[in-house]
Amino acid sequence: MPRIINTVLIGGGSGFIGSALTNLLRAKGYDVIVVSRMPGPQRISWNDLAESRLPQNVTAVVNLAGQNVLDPTRRWTPGFQQNVWASRVNTTASLAQAIVKAASKPKVFITISGVGIYKPSSSEEYDEDSDLTAFDFLSRLCHKWEEGGQLPAGTGVRQVTVRSGVVLGKYGGMIRQLYVPFYMGLGGPIASGKQFLPWIHIDDMANLLAFAIENDKVQGVLNGVAPQVVTNKEFTDAFAKALWRPAFIPLPEFAVKLAFGEERAKMMTEGQKVIPKRTLEYGFKYEYPDINSALSAVVAQ
Ligand SMILES: NC(=O)c1ccc[n+]([C@@H]2O[C@H](COP(=O)([O-])OP(=O)(O)OC[C@H]3O[C@@H](n4cnc5c(N)ncnc54)[C@H](OP(=O)(O)O)[C@@H]3O)[C@@H](O)[C@H]2O)c1
Repeated sequence: MPRIINTVLIGGGSGFIGSALTNLLRAKGYDVIVVSRMPGPQRISWNDLAESRLPQNVTAVVNLAGQNVLDPTRRWTPGFQQNVWASRVNTTASLAQAIVKAASKPKVFITISGVGIYKPSSSEEYDEDSDLTAFDFLSRLCHKWEEGGQLPAGTGVRQVTVRSGVVLGKYGGMIRQLYVPFYMGLGGPIASGKQFLPWIHIDDMANLLAFAIENDKVQGVLNGVAPQVVTNKEFTDAFAKALWRPAFIPLPEFAVKLAFGEERAKMMTEGQKVIPKRTLEYGFKYEYPDINSALSAVVAQ
């Protein structure tokens, strides 16, 4: 496939997913500029973006910024919720505004969102075309996050939103928090363990974002989840097996609520069955379509 995009601007490109995407794109020969709160080479600040608009020759813009919702050191206070909200909605809106103002537009604008937009259920099956109604803080956030990335009609920029499941990689996200307890044989299912856990391997997430950058036909919402649907218990067993450890110690629901607060705890104690229908229809090929191969790769990382 001919590569026509050269410079990619990534909001939050310093993070777990952003670093994986940056490394992948640089290995493919792209230039990458990161929008960050911290100065550094090949970086611009959010103020630079607002004042000077898009850097020249940017042909793809991706937003992966967002304060870590499940930071165990932060209480679920109104102030923290505001940070969680603004770090996603405002950064996405800032990039959208910069694109609107740019004389020379990028070809594609890719934003991330979460499967938290789908209501947890033990029976419903969701794909990208499922009907949506906001039902709690996180689902309202996902709606606003996705709306914040909508460009006015006629802007002429292709748009893609990736609704991500839990991203599995050794150096970030959920695995970074679970690795030590599971390695010590202290892991186990969360609550009943029957809740679905939509997931994707970090390499597949980076590949999916690059796929969306490179394929002119791809647009709209893509579920960023692996095709194999698992429950929290199935994930737990696969992770323990990959580490050659037992995982018999369940984490009761009340302990999760105590540590994270009721609203955040639901992200772990409840789940959704999410299918990557459009992702597969576009022909995206997963390196890790099943949980055992994904977690073996994570452990070997
Ligand atoms: N990891 C997952 O399992 C997962 C699942 C679903 C959705 N997502 C979403 O995907 C995005 C990237 O996830 P990730 O795991 O890569 O996150 P991450 O490692 O926590 O990094 C996100 C980046 O966002 C920037 N950031 C953090 N707090 C910010 C704030 N208050 N204001 C502005 N920027 C801020 C940081 O960049 P600087 O320090 O350079 O400014 C950080 O490197 C997030 O929006 C997340 O909600 C992730």
